[in-house]
Amino acid sequence: MAHDLTKSNQLKERAKKAIPHLTGTFSRAAPAFIEGVYPVYVQSANGSHFIDVDGNDFLDYLCGIGPITLGYNYKPVNDAIIDQLKSGILFSLPHPLEVETSELMLQTIPHAELVKFEKSGSNAVTGAVRAARHITKRDKIAYCGSGGVWHDWQAAMVSRDGGVPFFNRDLIKIFEYNDISGLEQIFEDNPEEIAAIVLEPTVYQKPSNDFLINVRKIADSNNSLLILDEIVTGFRFSLQGGQKYFNIKGDMVCFGKGMGNGLPISAITGPAEFMKAFDELWVSSTNNSETLSLAGTKAVITEMKEKNTISKCWENGIKLFEGWNKITDSYNLNAKMIGYPIRMKLECYDTKNQPSDSLKGLFLQEMVKRGIFMSPGVVFHSFSHTMDDIDFTLSNLESVCKFISEKISNEDYSSHLEGSLPKTIWTMKIPPTKNKK
Ligand SMILES: Cc1ncc(COP(=O)(O)O)c(C=O)c1O
Repeated sequence: MAHDLTKSNQLKERAKKAIPHLTGTFSRAAPAFIEGVYPVYVQSANGSHFIDVDGNDFLDYLCGIGPITLGYNYKPVNDAIIDQLKSGILFSLPHPLEVETSELMLQTIPHAELVKFEKSGSNAVTGAVRAARHITKRDKIAYCGSGGVWHDWQAAMVSRDGGVPFFNRDLIKIFEYNDISGLEQIFEDNPEEIAAIVLEPTVYQKPSNDFLINVRKIADSNNSLLILDEIVTGFRFSLQGGQKYFNIKGDMVCFGKGMGNGLPISAITGPAEFMKAFDELWVSSTNNSETLSLAGTKAVITEMKEKNTISKCWENGIKLFEGWNKITDSYNLNAKMIGYPIRMKLECYDTKNQPSDSLKGLFLQEMVKRGIFMSPGVVFHSFSHTMDDIDFTLSNLESVCKFISEKISNEDYSSHLEGSLPKTIWTMKIPPTKNKK
């Protein structure tokens, strides 16, 4: 049944007159979902659920676009924030929490000898790129552009790049995940010019043919730094992040979503020989030492360690991932979860094996109508998601599959859509470098 979205829609109309693109985050705005069917504004959230402004309850599989790793309104984190709030938020001098949370990060993250806190994932990666350029005295970056992308104000690799100086386009070279020969080609074309390779240990793909080992070797043999963007993989794939999970060592490793359960915090870590660069660089911001986020993050990491939260997330994720694919398979619907049980994505194809946005839209629409909120992009879940939540999801999926296979003939999915399909937010603009041989 469709939800009453009266208040959501009223707020959207007001936002149109007040905020560019409705909200500060592109991927949170109404056009990123099925507009007309999805709720637009959240009122509150608890555990694995949120309540929208019209009072509708949803089981949430987007988790704040990734940061809610423990769950909404999570008591030990809330308590730490409230305790700290009583002493103050931000001061004229640093607070002991900055030292304590740094020490906790250093005990947790492999090869980390120093840590610098920032406020967003974008700033952390930008800071690491800045340090790599300074250390190597080179300007160019080899960037793995096969999925997520950081939102550097100077990054020229994606659409919506108006205002980025034109010359920046020549400073960033794109290669694709698992294409080691493309990366080799970049180094061949730009000898002694590449400051760093920047990549996520994975987006959804599995590394093949020793891809990550070879990336590390290429960085070493060219005296370039390897910057790992662990904004999503950090504190999610394992407590020690993708470095541990994939057995790869980064020279600078960036964290963000995942470490603060929704608090505005990110971090750059690495061996002192590289991190010392920040002694000299003007990479600094007033709010970087804000203590509510530090207190909350300290509580998040402590909780993850003590309760082994990440292995429970894997267990639940495996049940969801495998259960989903088994059910859609049994209805002969090509609507599969791909990726990893803790970072997955729905992909839909028609009977001619062509990607089908309308089939995907229909799945999302029918799930959200049953109170299950999934985005067209990534599916995340948190420590607060229960096995009952997964069972609820799978039994609703069963009824959606039944509906689609019984009610829809000739693959006419679009005529059953009750809203508009999600709009593309960005596209990769610079084509990937391919091996010329
Ligand atoms: C892989 C990756 N890196 C960096 C970022 C940027 O993080 P933030 O949005 O906190 O600036 C994102 C955001 O989605 C991301 O997915």
